[in-house]
Amino acid sequence: MKKLLLLFVCTLLSLSIGAADKQSIRINTDNIDLILQVSPKNRLYQVYLGEKLNSTADFDHFNWNIYAGSDGAYGIRGREAYPGSGGEDMFEPALAITHADGNQTTYLYYKKSTQKAVPGGTETIIELADDKYAVQVTLHYVAYMKENVIKTWSEIKHNEKSSIILWRYASGMFYFNSSKYFLTNYHSDWAREGQPAVQQLQFGKKIVDTKLGTRAAEQSEPFFEIGFDQPAQENQGRVMLGTIGWTGNFSFTFEIDNVNCLRVIPAINSYASNYKLKAGENFKTPEFIFTLSENGTGQASRNLQNWARRYQLWNGEGNRMTLLNNWENTAFDFTQETLALLMKDAKELGVDMFLLDDGWFGNKYPRKDDRAGLGDWEPTRTKLPGGIPALTKATETAGVKFGLWIEPEMVNPKSELYEKHKNWVIELPNRETYYYRHQLVLDLSNPEVQDYVFSIVDRLMTENPSIVYFKWDCNSPITNIYSPYQKANQGNLYIEYVRGLYKVLDRIQAKYPKLEMMLCSGGGGRCDYQALKYYGEFWPSDDTDPYERLYIQYSMSKFFPSKALAAHVTNWNRRTSIKFRTDVASMCKLGFDLDLKTMKPEDYKFTQDAVTNWNRLKNVILDGELYRLISPYETHHMAVNYVSQDKKKAVLFAYDLHPRYSEPQQAVRLQGLDANRTYTVKEINLMPNTTSALHCNGQRYTGDYLMKVGLMVLSAYESASRVLELTAE
Ligand code: DGJ
Repeated sequence: MKKLLLLFVCTLLSLSIGAADKQSIRINTDNIDLILQVSPKNRLYQVYLGEKLNSTADFDHFNWNIYAGSDGAYGIRGREAYPGSGGEDMFEPALAITHADGNQTTYLYYKKSTQKAVPGGTETIIELADDKYAVQVTLHYVAYMKENVIKTWSEIKHNEKSSIILWRYASGMFYFNSSKYFLTNYHSDWAREGQPAVQQLQFGKKIVDTKLGTRAAEQSEPFFEIGFDQPAQENQGRVMLGTIGWTGNFSFTFEIDNVNCLRVIPAINSYASNYKLKAGENFKTPEFIFTLSENGTGQASRNLQNWARRYQLWNGEGNRMTLLNNWENTAFDFTQETLALLMKDAKELGVDMFLLDDGWFGNKYPRKDDRAGLGDWEPTRTKLPGGIPALTKATETAGVKFGLWIEPEMVNPKSELYEKHKNWVIELPNRETYYYRHQLVLDLSNPEVQDYVFSIVDRLMTENPSIVYFKWDCNSPITNIYSPYQKANQGNLYIEYVRGLYKVLDRIQAKYPKLEMMLCSGGGGRCDYQALKYYGEFWPSDDTDPYERLYIQYSMSKFFPSKALAAHVTNWNRRTSIKFRTDVASMCKLGFDLDLKTMKPEDYKFTQDAVTNWNRLKNVILDGELYRLISPYETHHMAVNYVSQDKKKAVLFAYDLHPRYSEPQQAVRLQGLDANRTYTVKEINLMPNTTSALHCNGQRYTGDYLMKVGLMVLSAYESASRVLELTAE
């Protein structure tokens, strides 16, 4: 086996260098080729990015000079793999530096490249250096073969006499040639996350970015979709999906140049971040992750979902816990006794865990609303006299696990922490402070503050080892931007904040590797793949109105596996049935957040049965392949199906949103099944004492029929839904 592996690696290495006279570097997956070439003047160019090529002999045809000049006679533009500022290319650079002597140009020359095997693929490492300044740049590309995902980042180092200032520092740069480019970016707001906006890109720049710091994705999501020649389609055409792993200010620049070439530049947003880099220090950019598909967005999403589960998401191939949360039910109004009753409810409902949300801490300034207490992570004695131990004991008695809400990066001015450590807070010394949700952000660029934030989790875990889950919230963006710790280096603050956060999360993960955490930020204000190395799931939105959730979940499913999307059944839009609300939440990681005791008995029984069904099918829903069949953005319905990796099980979710009166329906054609197998169809999640009205219920069909003809599962009734379980013989 080892020998085989060695042979495989050697083959890859020999393939990586193409035709002898042209120094080509090949970065490839099963279906994608990214080919770079070194020019005679020793500069590095992208000569190809697209569908994988069959023959390396063809690499000879590529010419670093093909695009009118590069570093040749005309010398005005190129497709440099990582262009520096002040060079021949007059468009946006990947890197811009003010050197120690004030010079603002950087020319990078190729030094060497290596390739090595890493889990799932190959990492290509390319070293570049300036010939006049002691600046080195290392480009990294990890190509995941089967999943057709490429992850890229760069590292910048120097040895100049004194610090240099970085004012552009992209994760990478990619060039595309098509007749037309259609960008879908996703804007966002509280309770309105993941709203797609499609536009054709024209000459010039379109920038999608954020300046919010902590709650970075509140207005703009860190992911995008590009359709080549046509707007991105679900099942046909060339599509790119891209996303950046950075839990802070990011920026995507899409620039169409004078020859209609699209340049994609993913980066940390350099806004208010002229970064002072000391000699000998290494500046590592975030990872940019992308995939290309020739068969539309559906395939591209499955690429990212499989990649995320296997290589990026915390415990990506492991289990997830169902839960009962108390936030929508009690808000801040609970006692030790009322919580103990909710824990029993959780058990009776059949979920794995009880999650205690906001409002459990603060003594001098008890957290009875959102105006006080953040920073003082001691249980409120008047409310919870037995502290956390009494709560974990109560969950043990009830027979469920215990999870806890924290918001450890934040502080309310009404807190003992603020009184003691005002210099730990990001706040302007010379202007009136303004507040977002009555709170401020702790200065995680300060190592002392990192220690403190780590100690919050560490102390809770040491004193209560049976806590299995934290919901880690972050309700404020960085306001009043000024760090007492950074002093004259304020340009480093936004970046050092995020790095400080990762240092804390690294320590938590090292000490508590099994501790599961949910990433939450006033809904979905944080949802990036670097954070998801530490968090097993995120909270896509506080909006749990099932209608809205269908749109949000549909958008998020383009980039994330359903396993990473927490979805709770609540009383938002209780005009819709409990079945509709539960069926919507069941297509992701299922949870509940409502008062079970006030439910009608048949509704309650329905939820218990739905939890049992979900547990039986969670391997298909969370770990299977997702096929989006009908879009709520284009119709009055939505449908998706999941298929287990071995194609023996499938689950179809079909929803009717606001259909027109007596609207004629079409059959829903499934995807991803085994055409040669026969599947038995069973409608599940039925209300107690009702039977399925579907003709297909109980019938046997071949996968071929189900994919070509389909099933009549939609209706013209408002907020109706159907869940079908398909089992292969
Ligand atoms: C915002 C979160 O999105 C909610 O789910 C809830 O945890 C509140 N914060 C609590 O303050």
